[in-house]
Amino acid sequence: MVRRILLPALLCVGFWAQADSFKGRSEMNGISYKDFEGFEDKWKFVTVRYRGDTGEQRFTWGNDLAIKALEAGSTDYPDGAVFAKIGFATEKDPSFESSMVPSGAKRYQFMVRDKKKYASTGGWGYALFDGAKLTNDGDPKTQAMACYACHQLVPERGEVFSQPLKISSFAAKVPPPAENKEVHVSAVRFETVPLRKLPEFVRRSLPEKSRSIRSVKGELRNNVFRGTIDEIRPSLVEEVKRTGLPAALVALSDSQFAAVYPDPNRKDCKKKSLKSVFSTQVPSTDPGASGYLVVAYQDLCL
Ligand code: HEC
Repeated sequence: MVRRILLPALLCVGFWAQADSFKGRSEMNGISYKDFEGFEDKWKFVTVRYRGDTGEQRFTWGNDLAIKALEAGSTDYPDGAVFAKIGFATEKDPSFESSMVPSGAKRYQFMVRDKKKYASTGGWGYALFDGAKLTNDGDPKTQAMACYACHQLVPERGEVFSQPLKISSFAAKVPPPAENKEVHVSAVRFETVPLRKLPEFVRRSLPEKSRSIRSVKGELRNNVFRGTIDEIRPSLVEEVKRTGLPAALVALSDSQFAAVYPDPNRKDCKKKSLKSVFSTQVPSTDPGASGYLVVAYQDLCL
């Protein structure tokens, strides 16, 4: 269940008004779905991921140039290499409810290699479209910086997260029992900071008792957009699991943040109960006016 609380008016951020005009376009950063239409059938499939936080199934494909470099283990992707990803919402198969099936595309994402044109984002041009293959709101340049900031977590893979899915080698492995699984060490870097160092509106969203918090360091904080808030949640959960402290990503430039903290008052989880709190945007119904930034809470279980 998601509970929403309006922040006071002073936190309504003006740039959303301007940002709204970027919505609904078929092109972002010189890239459109039409440029690669039908890639799902034509290109080689790279891998599938399942996102526990959003319940999304994500499928990634690469064109010939991208696949050639990926399979050779190269990090130096040539101009013209393209990766495309579709995020599908999932729903229960009504005949067998624990089996989730894709229920429709939620997002299309592209990474297009052109070292000169996209020099400011590491040589990859980034584009994101919704299920209708149209842009969301938000300045495309800012969004691309946010994409780039996160993809820089994997420089050793040429800023490409996906790895070829080798079904035969996976099938040969016997997974270890769940409790012996190694703690996932994320490439996201954290530092412990006193809670009082955080902006007041973030502090107010966290339990009063917390004194210090594990706060994300580095580039990621410079460019936060709505997608980052969703993408970062699993790393925050891992950090809370590892340290027992609240963990947060707080944007440096505006009022966006995401945090996760232990929630001992709730008893509905088998293991630990956590709470996720994050900023999210509510668009204004008046086309001329800016939207609102609100804080939403979500219950999580470990
Ligand atoms: C906070 C982290 C984060 C942000 C921000 C982010 N990505 Fe990614 N991206 C990932 C991860 C993790 C994957 C691996 C697949 C998955 O989990 O969806 C990925 C995969 C991809 C892929 C498939 C190729 C690859 O690298 O595996 C594309 C294309 C892509 N992202 C595009 C984008 C675009 C475009 C944006 C910005 C609009 C963006 N990403 C923002 C983390 C991020």
